[in-house]
Amino acid sequence: MAFVNEDNITDLAMQRWGTAHSPRTAELMSAFVRHLHAFAREVHLTEEEWAAAMNWLAATGQISDEKRQEFILASDVVGLSMLVVQLNNRFSEQATPATVLGPFHIDGSPPAEFGHDMAAGIEGTPLFITGTVTDTEGKPVPGAVLDVWQADADGNYESQLPEIDEARLRAKYQAREDGSYCVRTIAPRGYSIPMDGPVGDLIRTTDISHFRPAHVHFMLEEPGYQKLITHLFQEGAEYLDSDVVFGTKDALVVPFVEHQAGPSPDGGRLDRPFLHATFDFVLEQKS
Ligand code: BEZ
Ligand code: FE
Repeated sequence: MAFVNEDNITDLAMQRWGTAHSPRTAELMSAFVRHLHAFAREVHLTEEEWAAAMNWLAATGQISDEKRQEFILASDVVGLSMLVVQLNNRFSEQATPATVLGPFHIDGSPPAEFGHDMAAGIEGTPLFITGTVTDTEGKPVPGAVLDVWQADADGNYESQLPEIDEARLRAKYQAREDGSYCVRTIAPRGYSIPMDGPVGDLIRTTDISHFRPAHVHFMLEEPGYQKLITHLFQEGAEYLDSDVVFGTKDALVVPFVEHQAGPSPDGGRLDRPFLHATFDFVLEQKS
């Protein structure tokens, strides 16, 4: 092997990582090494800066556990998560666009009937979200599962609260024969991403807003269709144009229309004012 100097180290490291047994790993690691070295050259990385970066990465790992994934948050705030979503969800124009999953989805939410209140007993303004699930030709997709989750009015998700023993602000709805669905919940609020770790420390050194606009998360699944992970955002909400994780899209912003007490979209009646958003999800067929 040639001895190392500043000029040949990148090629040598790429060759070495290009021996990975899986061709894809070889491709990923060689390109990673190439870009990493180019970065260090471009900014002329100092030894102090390199050591600070290593300490920051170590702290990011140390604060992570089965409930908190600080590396995902780091990927979110630099726009990498959203870029990966865009690269891998190039749906046709008619289909509902995808956005970031975020770190707060919990598998195995309980099944919910049409109109079920997934916020029962939780403070907040009632919100109904109704509409249909269809394919890109407008044909209903009966049985499509809509896995829905959101934060409470204080911006906390279930996984951020201690000792919760039943599903909180999450449920799995199903589209009916005509593709219709009805979610009952409470109005979400904009909230801050967790700022008590290394990602927060870094953000505080910038002018970056650490808030997300008010939204409800959806994951739609049905055999034969591409899985859709997306959100609905409240029209007029604060932070729509500065979402810290780059997740907002025009097509996902919907009005939350105010209604007085009276007939409600689940076919019942409500004795207090409520909000109603309508949104028709369009799934892309698998090719
Ligand atoms: C969320 O919307 O739940 C979220 C997404 C990315 C980072 C933090 C939170
Ligand atoms: Fe969220």
